[in-house]
Amino acid sequence: MTEDPDRALERRVEALTSELQHKDAELAEARTRLHELQRQLMDQEKLASLGALTAGIAHELQNPLNFVNNFSELSSRLTAELEESLRKLSGRLDAEALGEVLELLEDLRQNSQRITAHGKRASDIIRTMLRHSRRSEGTRSRVDFNTLIRESLGLAVQGLKGRAGAASVETQSELDPAVGTVELVVGDIGRLLINIVDNAFYATVQKQQQAGAGYVPRVHVSTRRDGDTVELRVRDNGPGIPEHLREKLFHPFFTTKPAGVGTGLGLALCQEIVQEHQGELRVESQPGDYAEFIITLPAPRLGA
Ligand SMILES: Nc1ncnc2c1ncn2[C@@H]1O[C@H](COP(=O)(O)OP(=O)(O)OP(=O)(O)O)[C@@H](O)[C@H]1O
Ligand SMILES: [Mg+2]
Repeated sequence: MTEDPDRALERRVEALTSELQHKDAELAEARTRLHELQRQLMDQEKLASLGALTAGIAHELQNPLNFVNNFSELSSRLTAELEESLRKLSGRLDAEALGEVLELLEDLRQNSQRITAHGKRASDIIRTMLRHSRRSEGTRSRVDFNTLIRESLGLAVQGLKGRAGAASVETQSELDPAVGTVELVVGDIGRLLINIVDNAFYATVQKQQQAGAGYVPRVHVSTRRDGDTVELRVRDNGPGIPEHLREKLFHPFFTTKPAGVGTGLGLALCQEIVQEHQGELRVESQPGDYAEFIITLPAPRLGA
């Protein structure tokens, strides 16, 4: 028995419609993915050119600043010599006039010292900018994740001890042995941890200066495997971060630290590193209680 030709046509139209609908949905999905990719590329490009710009400016400033620093030191020495010569001549000069000249010389000496001190501060800022913008070439290698975290944490602790007037911060780590080997850009992930832990140290030391006795500054670092991702958490019991600042932290040059202490590039760089690893970086906080930075990285199991 053959099918009624009208019915057959109807069925073909139905089949074609459904196929078209399917293709339409696929196209829409591809378009969304494309937009997302475009956005990511633009972000990456912006950050990369910002990094290059920062490095360029910092590099250009270094040279003239070195001159300022060297000449201000020289001026300090010259004023000291001038003072000595004048004192040797003191028997032959009018005492009152000499007193005035020596006073002026003293002012000059203090001025040069101030120029030296501020020049040094500017040099420190430039050094930090260069450190933040100079990145490794991004070759991935396989490493034991927990070892990398342990070593980087050790470096951050060393850095803390080296700082003048640093309080002792209790650091604890809780590293999940299930994390295992992960493929990543070792230098970049190490730097990421150091930046975040440095911020945590700073936050707790700040709080300690206000809270006084009874407050124990603590930083807790933990890792955890969850299926095909690894999670890294850095938690501190510092002042925390108010809600309205949580987005801004990741913007380049956003800092609440005094000039010479922070450049505001640490977290922008961390964000960039995490994006390059197709991961995520977010922050949770209870102001007055804690701040926690959470990094998740895709990490298929690679065995031991
Ligand atoms: N653990 C934290 N607790 C409280 N505030 C934090 C914490 N981590 C970061 N912040 C805030 O985020 C700001 C930006 O941090 P980011 O690391 O980008 O720059 P920075 O530390 O100020 O300077 P840099 O890292 O360049 O030396 C900090 O100035 C601080 O206000
Ligand atoms: Mg920082």
